[in-house]
Amino acid sequence: MALDRRQFGLGAAAFLGASGLCLPSRAEEELAVLRAAKGLVRIAPDDYAPTELWTYGGVVPGPEIRVMRGKTVRRRFINNLPQPSTVHWHGIRIENAMDGVPDLTQAAVAPGAQFDYAFTAPDAGTYWYHPHNRTWEQLARGLSGILIVEEEGDPPYDRELGLALDDWRLDREARLHESFGAPMDRSHAGRIGNWVTVNGRPEPRYPAKRFERLRLRLVNTATARVFTLRVKGLSGWIVALDGQPLEHPRTLPEHMTLAPAQRIDLIADITASAGEEALIASEERGQTYAVTSFPVSDTARDDPLGPPEALPANDLPPLNGKGDVASVDLVMEGGAMGRMPAATLNGETLDARALAQRNQFWAFNGVVGMTKTPLVKVDIGQLVRLRMENRTGWPHAMHLHGHHFRKLGGVEGVGPWRDTELVARGETAEIAFVADNPGKWLLHCHMVDHADSGMMTWIEVG
Ligand code: C2O
Ligand code: CU
Repeated sequence: MALDRRQFGLGAAAFLGASGLCLPSRAEEELAVLRAAKGLVRIAPDDYAPTELWTYGGVVPGPEIRVMRGKTVRRRFINNLPQPSTVHWHGIRIENAMDGVPDLTQAAVAPGAQFDYAFTAPDAGTYWYHPHNRTWEQLARGLSGILIVEEEGDPPYDRELGLALDDWRLDREARLHESFGAPMDRSHAGRIGNWVTVNGRPEPRYPAKRFERLRLRLVNTATARVFTLRVKGLSGWIVALDGQPLEHPRTLPEHMTLAPAQRIDLIADITASAGEEALIASEERGQTYAVTSFPVSDTARDDPLGPPEALPANDLPPLNGKGDVASVDLVMEGGAMGRMPAATLNGETLDARALAQRNQFWAFNGVVGMTKTPLVKVDIGQLVRLRMENRTGWPHAMHLHGHHFRKLGGVEGVGPWRDTELVARGETAEIAFVADNPGKWLLHCHMVDHADSGMMTWIEVG
């Protein structure tokens, strides 16, 4: 995960220069396979047996995928799982046919079958990939990986590190709890686990040097846990959210909220001295525990570097669309401690009790789950304003496929570009985006058990 781009670039250039060959080798063809299969992976401390998980490429998180902005990602997805699956490339403004949503953009890939994904990565930044079939089970079993789209130019940092934060529900023998889709989780916060890892390890340690400048790409790959993070022995800036650079890097706040599926990119300098360690810690109900540490030996330079410049912006459509503005209201209801009026499931109106019997707990505008017709159909290039009113007792990490959006109102006026917005309980969040990407796009809660128990709809563009 800790690929040093400068070294890598040098090595590759030196190699090609020496051999003069640039034909793809056998090994490179092999790399183009993304295989999902069961695997034994050590996510618990070393004195426990490895855990049986579902993996991409035998590792958790899955292999890091890297591509230059504007280039094409190609992967032959081979499904060796006991269930149909797909791959969704979260946050990529992708061609609809490659979005990986079963029944909406493709048929799920049956066990033993394969599907070739190929798509251009239009935006530099930090993204990730995960299944979109029975996500509440497949993601919880370990299927996810980081996808990095590199910007052009020399990186303004010494080293970068992708950090996938995950949350597992393990039993005493470090076996995965098989309680997927439990009604108790679905109607509450989702499947919250009891074991947090970063890059598959409990509190991994990455040796670092004083005043070394790191780019940290934090990704929340958990099914439901919202992380509240703070740092020690590190100082720096948030430079991107959900892949998209901030116009102005923001000094690290005391706490950072990282909701399911969200990403935060930091440019951070190690300020701890040699012999100390820098930390990223998670805070929960007043308790703080380290999730990643950076033992410091050595010093990279005598003085810290100055504030970084903003990362180069991606080419996102400004918020002025063609024709009328499409205004859409989305009322979120249901869940424990909330009121769930009768709602429609597959065209049938059911009361809360009947819905609970079907393991369904949430509704958007009185509708539970997917429908044959979209929430709204808009023209290509139309500006969409989507008002999400959270009448439930829980926060929801709302994710839109195929587009990035900005939150309207609040102190900022217009917020940063995001693809996943955490809507607090009782909050109404209004987001806006230009629907420039034709196709059928999901809009759902990324607490994936909520998504499968009502909080999933779609919009159609074009
Ligand atoms: Cu990260 Cu619909 O997904
Ligand atoms: Cu939710």
